[in-house]
Amino acid sequence: MRGLDGVYVAETRISYVDGEKGRLWYRGYAVDELARKATFEEVAYLLIHGKLPNREELEEFRSRLIAARRIPEHVIEVAEKLPQNLHVLDKMRVLVTLLYGWYGDGKPRMLTSKQVDAKPVIEAGTGLVGAAPRLLGIIAALEEGRELPSEKFELDSHAAYTLYALTGREPSLPERDAFNTLLILYADHELPASTFAAMVAASTLTDIYSAIDAALATLKGPLHGGALEEVAKMLLEIGDPENAEKYVENVLSSGKRLMGFGHRVYKTYDPRSLILKKVASIIANAVGGEARRLYETAVAVENAALKRLARKNIYPNVDFWASVLLYALGIKPRYYTGVFAVARIVGWVAHVAEYVARNRLIRPRALYTGPLNLPYLPLEARQ
Ligand code: SDX
Repeated sequence: MRGLDGVYVAETRISYVDGEKGRLWYRGYAVDELARKATFEEVAYLLIHGKLPNREELEEFRSRLIAARRIPEHVIEVAEKLPQNLHVLDKMRVLVTLLYGWYGDGKPRMLTSKQVDAKPVIEAGTGLVGAAPRLLGIIAALEEGRELPSEKFELDSHAAYTLYALTGREPSLPERDAFNTLLILYADHELPASTFAAMVAASTLTDIYSAIDAALATLKGPLHGGALEEVAKMLLEIGDPENAEKYVENVLSSGKRLMGFGHRVYKTYDPRSLILKKVASIIANAVGGEARRLYETAVAVENAALKRLARKNIYPNVDFWASVLLYALGIKPRYYTGVFAVARIVGWVAHVAEYVARNRLIRPRALYTGPLNLPYLPLEARQ
């Protein structure tokens, strides 16, 4: 099937996506409950280690993440030299690659021809989960001419630290909770293109830094993570709820894709989108002004879109309402896919570690449909 639609390429115990009912579970826990009650750190531990951490495990994991915020000087020096207009994910790819070896080499260890020790992947991967918010914050601060985010700020919350690193200001309590929910909802999603890219790379037993590089490159595309910033651009271009109907009509009648709508697996509302719509409404209406207007424009776009797309089982996906919430949190659209990556590094590490533990090189076939045994013609004899 084109695009591996409906093709199962692995078994996993990490996430289950019920596309018909619009449900999502992480290691057997319903994501709506985790989004309401857990911290991102607990969910990251759950996805990577397969169980909710006890107090001691959580403290140890949290201190690993905090220690990883200390980015080596040589990485910051390169970050300062990167061309300003390079896409955020390309900058993250450069900086993640420069971290090679910083948290251990991240290379799976061959134990037998079938058994591989994934511990180095988890060790180095956890370091990258911890470093990612400050990497993204350094990129944003350099682009905006702001002071680099301190590694010391906000010792007790990955979400609050990420929001501070990205905006340069201390987030309010409702903002921290909202952003914690968003990071949890973006932490994993079974086998999207970026996770599969990481797995294909890892199946050659390369290191986790390279596998995450492959995932970041894949996430960037507008059919995947890149949609997150495209939604914001679309809503800002529409500008007002009054213009939504006409805009949606123009996009759909010209056969284009409405960013933030549709999903390969969900044929109903993406459950993450339902949660984020509520959270976006609270924050956007508390912030007011531009944020409230963007939310109201998004409501009008959703109504206009569903009138035309619901019959084709096309609904808002996670990116649509996440984009509205990120805007209300004062984050610039160019960093949105970077936020997606900060959360999803957890899922990439978890799936790579799970796959390589019973590794087999991923090498599918392509059905050959061309000619065979054509005669080689010398240059002068060719048309
Ligand atoms: C993410 O995989 C994951 O889980 C990803 C993700 C995650 O957590 O990792 O959930 C995150 O990437 C969400 C998706 C973000 N992308 C977008 O919002 C971009 C816009 N959406 C699409 O382009 C599209 O919906 C996809 C790529 C997401 C899924 O498309 P499929 O499964 O390949 O479907 P398709 O291209 O075969 O389309 C089927 C039909 C087509 O119409 P027909 O030719 O049959 O008449 O649906 C139409 C498409 O034109 N269609 C849309 C549409 N999405 C599908 N029409 C208008 N607008 C859209 N957004």
